[in-house]
Amino acid sequence: MTHTIEVVDRNEKVEAEDGQDVLNALLEGGVDWMHACGGFCNCTTCRIKIEEGSENISDMEKDEKNTLRRFQGEEVLDGSFRLSCQVKVYGDIKISEPEWY
Ligand code: FES
Repeated sequence: MTHTIEVVDRNEKVEAEDGQDVLNALLEGGVDWMHACGGFCNCTTCRIKIEEGSENISDMEKDEKNTLRRFQGEEVLDGSFRLSCQVKVYGDIKISEPEWY
């Protein structure tokens, strides 16, 4: 089963396997996406904003929350900002690139 990830502010779409992380799906689909730490939850350059389909992704784990807080502060912990290397996809979603860099 595959799902669609649409990057709304870039007008790009990729397919993701069920349970695949967003970063891998983007890279495999040919979308250039920053991932400075290599997908190890130790930077925030892979950040995404969930625009639609928040019910179709994995919940935020402690590591992701800690990394977001450490690099970006409490204000980004509203649940819509996520680290693409940590988010698993279980249905169609729409994302964008946050502007806090
Ligand atoms: S690539 Fe560094 S936290 Fe995702």
